[in-house]
Amino acid sequence: MSDIFRKKPISAFEADMQKSELKRVLGKWSLTAIGIGAIIGGGIFVLTGTAAHYHAGPALALSFVVAGIACIFAALCYAEFAAMLPVEGSAYAYAYGTVGEIFAWIIGWGLILEYAMGAMTVAVSWSGYFGKFLKMFGVVLPAFLVNDPMSFANAGGSGFAMNLPAFIIVWVVTYVLVKGIEEAAGANNIIVLIKVAAVLFVILVGAFAVVPENWIPFIPEATMIEGENGQPHQAYGIGGIFGGAAAIFFAYIGFDAVSTQAGEAINPKKDIPFAIISSLLICTVLYILVSLVLTGMINYKDIVGDALKAPVAAAFEKAGKPWAAYIITTAATVGLVSVMLVMMLGQTRIFLGMAKDGLLPEFFRAIHPTFKTPFKSTILVGAVVSTVAAFTPIGVLGEMTSFGTLFAFAMVCAAVWLLRIREPNMQRGFKVPALPLVALAGMATNLFLIINLSHLSKLLALGWLVFGVLVYFAYGKSHSKLEKQG
Ligand code: ALA
Repeated sequence: MSDIFRKKPISAFEADMQKSELKRVLGKWSLTAIGIGAIIGGGIFVLTGTAAHYHAGPALALSFVVAGIACIFAALCYAEFAAMLPVEGSAYAYAYGTVGEIFAWIIGWGLILEYAMGAMTVAVSWSGYFGKFLKMFGVVLPAFLVNDPMSFANAGGSGFAMNLPAFIIVWVVTYVLVKGIEEAAGANNIIVLIKVAAVLFVILVGAFAVVPENWIPFIPEATMIEGENGQPHQAYGIGGIFGGAAAIFFAYIGFDAVSTQAGEAINPKKDIPFAIISSLLICTVLYILVSLVLTGMINYKDIVGDALKAPVAAAFEKAGKPWAAYIITTAATVGLVSVMLVMMLGQTRIFLGMAKDGLLPEFFRAIHPTFKTPFKSTILVGAVVSTVAAFTPIGVLGEMTSFGTLFAFAMVCAAVWLLRIREPNMQRGFKVPALPLVALAGMATNLFLIINLSHLSKLLALGWLVFGVLVYFAYGKSHSKLEKQG
């Protein structure tokens, strides 16, 4: 039984790094763009309305500060690890070197929620934005081609249905990912420029439409209100700021994906920590400004009905600038592609790390002779993500992505502290300041945000982790390289 707690020796990580077959082409700005590519997505354009109306009011900006701080703790811990163990597996690998195989496996399994399930939910939201984008040109796709069969039937439809745009976009992304990391990074860089420009546009144009009275009082008095699900809940006040932070956490997911690119970075020990922290800081500043502008343009009490689904666009309509909604729709349609790109990229690199350790079959580490990408695993991930996105009502399960991410964040914070105790003299290119305080604060804030997720998603995510443990005993444990080495 003690086998399940065996740890991968740090020297074995170093040997893996020497043998990487991937192409090392990513510099620090491409890596930063990968972080921003994954972070800015649907979250900022969609969740802000719910968080302001049901939780924080104008103090939404403070919710972004709180969630940003929780992420910064985790980002600092990721950065220390990435500088020390620049390997593809990210949190999975860090856990393998510190807390043992079973924990590493569970984290790797949990990361499937973040990356693969994240990509599925984003593919479904992309399809929604794409529909709005087509509508701008008067094109409306039939309902049976933009809905999964269950949603279609629930809306009164009968016969065949699939979410075709979601299916197709996943295959487009898969094609780019198989073609090569340079192609993927190039596409990501262009998309990031477009979406950062769109966010700056929202901030700059929106700033002139702010009505300062909407910010008063900035932190509305705590009150009981009817929540999204019809149940009464305590909103606003200081508690509302925290509730809002959990609600918008999804918008921050993605900076950790940079750490899965260690095998493709030119100078991973320096550039990965830089990119993790800089992408997070850039997005935090942008998010705080967007939330200030949003709650300044439209009173949080007026974000109801359709405005809850597209609050930023609704705010511009209210300010008499309906054309801005077109720009936001276009930017979101383009911008969500890079979120999928980075999520699927991250998923295949984590599988690669797990397969190198023997915990997953060889299939996941097959590298294409010309493109130098893990092509078999990329195609498999593409097939699963596209099929689930097209045929199941995945959109409602988006919170499980937050669970998988928060879980990995909390574990990385714990692991960084553990390794400092076990290997205090190891060379560290980047050191988390004020340890163990930062690690403890990281664990506490991330676990706190998990507690704030809905009951259903917590149950489903726990079920997923239990299933993962069964798979570990059925396959991973006996195939582990460490098992073979005795
Ligand atoms: N942070 C990403 C988004 O908001 C996942 O879409």
